[in-house]
Amino acid sequence: MNRIAVIGSNMVDLITYVDRMPEAGETLEAPRFSLGCGGKGANQAVAAAKLGADVVFVTRVGDDFFADGTIANLQACGIDTRHVRKVPGASSGVAPIFVRPDSGNSILIIKGANAAMDAIAIKDAADALKQSSLIVLQLEIAIEVVYAAIDFAAEHGIPVLLNPAPAVAGLDPARLAKLDFLAPNETELALLSGMPVTSLETAQAAARSLVDNGCTHIIATLGEKGALYVGCEGEWHIPACRVNAVDTTGAGDAFVGCFAKVWSETHDIRTAMEEAVAYSACSVTAFGTQSSYPDSAAFERFRDQRTAA
Ligand code: RIB
Ligand code: NA
Repeated sequence: MNRIAVIGSNMVDLITYVDRMPEAGETLEAPRFSLGCGGKGANQAVAAAKLGADVVFVTRVGDDFFADGTIANLQACGIDTRHVRKVPGASSGVAPIFVRPDSGNSILIIKGANAAMDAIAIKDAADALKQSSLIVLQLEIAIEVVYAAIDFAAEHGIPVLLNPAPAVAGLDPARLAKLDFLAPNETELALLSGMPVTSLETAQAAARSLVDNGCTHIIATLGEKGALYVGCEGEWHIPACRVNAVDTTGAGDAFVGCFAKVWSETHDIRTAMEEAVAYSACSVTAFGTQSSYPDSAAFERFRDQRTAA
């Protein structure tokens, strides 16, 4: 059995490439716009599926124009959509995203139907979840659903990973203690630990404080500084790959999706992190969110080119 269950959000990404953001009251022309499929849950599910994982995705779409496109996209990626439901009267989740010339971004999210998923979704999907070797969660859905999923995973002995994004304060420490993997970025690590994270050393200290509080494996993504592991297998740092970044949107999700795929197959955390760092680096070299995630063949080409260079 090697199946990944992702429980989380889907969004339609409305990506505007800007030279700069407009000031209040200013109308400014931007050079380019692109519509794509996004949302942290969907991104992670799609990354894992594009790499060949067997993925089931539990999510909610609205009853609007975007819903069928979102479902069709998930199916085209080979994802099991039996637990994707439409919420009558709700809008689909959307994310207006602004990407700057330096490849950085600013993101607004409107959760729409994602916020309407309740804890019953976990009961409904129980059979599929029980057949999973890893459950992957983020924080773009109601927190009660995230907690219900963590409780379910603990009860059934299914490994569970939380990507605590976007950053939310005041997460229940008892739930964090039930996780197998906590995978924050620098901002989320700082918020969860209550410690400043400005360097590799401060990230290590912050991650250690979370391990002390009961988390088994902390896998922190540090952007240009790569990724850091702190947990019961020791501590290590994986440097980032140097690439020509054009759009960093969804790079963290690419990391999580790839990590989930490789870990669920190998149970080798370090290898999964190395692959995930490379996969996420590859994603920032292309525009868009899911559209920038390579499948296994394209990912292999990316790595061959780097070895050759
Ligand atoms: O992590 C990137 C994602 O955040 C985007 O796809 C957007 O939809 C928001 O959810
Ligand atoms: Na990208």
